[in-house]
Amino acid sequence: MIEITPILDNDSHEPLYMQLTNYMKQEILSGNIKPYEKLPSKRKLSSHLSLSINTVQAAYDQLKAEGYVESKPRSGLFVTSFKDELLSHPIRDLPITVPVKEKETEAEIDFYSGHVDLAHFPYSTWKKLSVQSLQESEAALFYYGDPQGERSLREAIVHYLFESRGVKCKADQVIIGAGTQYIISLLCMLIGKDKTYAFENPGFLRTKAVFRDQGVKTRPIRLDKEGIDVMQLQASQASVVYVTPSHQFPLGMVMPINRRMELLKWAQEEEGYIIEDDYDSEYRYQGKPIPSLQGLDDHGRVIYLGTFSKALIPSIRISYMVLPPQLLQKYVDHFTIYQQTVSRLHQDTLFQFMREGHWQRHVNKMRTLYRKKHRTLIQAIKQYLGDHVTVVGEKAGLHIVLDVHLTWSEKELVDRAREQGIKVYPLSVHYDDDIGQHESKVLLGFGSLSEEEIEKGILTLKKAWLR
Ligand SMILES: Cc1ncc(COP(=O)(O)O)c(C=O)c1O
Repeated sequence: MIEITPILDNDSHEPLYMQLTNYMKQEILSGNIKPYEKLPSKRKLSSHLSLSINTVQAAYDQLKAEGYVESKPRSGLFVTSFKDELLSHPIRDLPITVPVKEKETEAEIDFYSGHVDLAHFPYSTWKKLSVQSLQESEAALFYYGDPQGERSLREAIVHYLFESRGVKCKADQVIIGAGTQYIISLLCMLIGKDKTYAFENPGFLRTKAVFRDQGVKTRPIRLDKEGIDVMQLQASQASVVYVTPSHQFPLGMVMPINRRMELLKWAQEEEGYIIEDDYDSEYRYQGKPIPSLQGLDDHGRVIYLGTFSKALIPSIRISYMVLPPQLLQKYVDHFTIYQQTVSRLHQDTLFQFMREGHWQRHVNKMRTLYRKKHRTLIQAIKQYLGDHVTVVGEKAGLHIVLDVHLTWSEKELVDRAREQGIKVYPLSVHYDDDIGQHESKVLLGFGSLSEEEIEKGILTLKKAWLR
């Protein structure tokens, strides 16, 4: 008969009987307890391990239920015989390799462009509305919802888009989804993977990753000071193009009306599509807002993309697209089989937030706040970095690019800043050729930083770079 002496932990959250069960399973699978061996009687094992008989009984019942041991009438419990090949990899020896990403130490000041100001997020209002969404009368929200997203929220979005961006659409055309990347992967299926997709170079790394991972043909298109080069686009044989006309990511130019018209003409002639990513159009610091491309399009060639990640919070994961009629028909025919990816509770909370006017108030408040931060940033750059840098794309949004006229490479600029506790971001990762490698440009987001942090951050960059 076998002797077993497991180490059991009385303070563990795991009940003793489970600890004993797991120990015996491992011993059986690893071959330390052999097939056909008889287990000690409950009484014997309980006294050997100073456990109650009930604990041993529960462990034996579990082992029996899972087939690790079998009972023979009037003889006791015996270990099941496993085929040798099944035992060749004892469980405890299985190599468990969790890929570990090198964890960076926290920077004192992080100019990350994906962060927003959380200090001014209306927590108590959001909390009150979240509770409201959870109330009994809203119990229906616990079922699956409309695959396109809650109609009430889509209607609120339509209203907002018309007033603020000149987007002309109906709620039926709006499809909500958990993030721009998810929406773009859905779009690849909808438009077709046989098409060629063009995008801005440099352009948003995360969108380009989706195109590549969806296996579609891609064409990077260079930019000039007005945005994407339509001549190169025409020559590219692409029939779909992804652009960020209101605030090019990452270089920040705002596409003027002429270039917009050229782009629309291209799409019309090509019978192609423009994916217009209007990710942070709420914030503009110079000039009047330029209406969306979608609002200028009379031929159903523009797919408009928006997100609540910049103007509200990124963790809510609510983004959306507005489909032109032709694609909408295809979506309704083939894609409503995909369930909605955003929680109905969050959608409902956001709807209430918009209905009660909190959204517009929040956007207005943040506009003033970001304008102040933006001014502080530009002034600090002028004061501390002067002619050593040129600010690129400063008319809108929550980030700028610094073109640095020193001898440091991009990597050296990032590393030297990091040594001083400041995180700035390389631009080259957004390029599809090695042009970015030869430039000394870095990306600075300022959304989450206070004015004091912005000023201190730029002063520290002076120390790091001008030493
Ligand atoms: C160009 C661009 N599009 C979209 C987004 C937002 O993505 P999501 O809606 O997945 O949060 C960002 C955020 O940084 C962005 O830079």
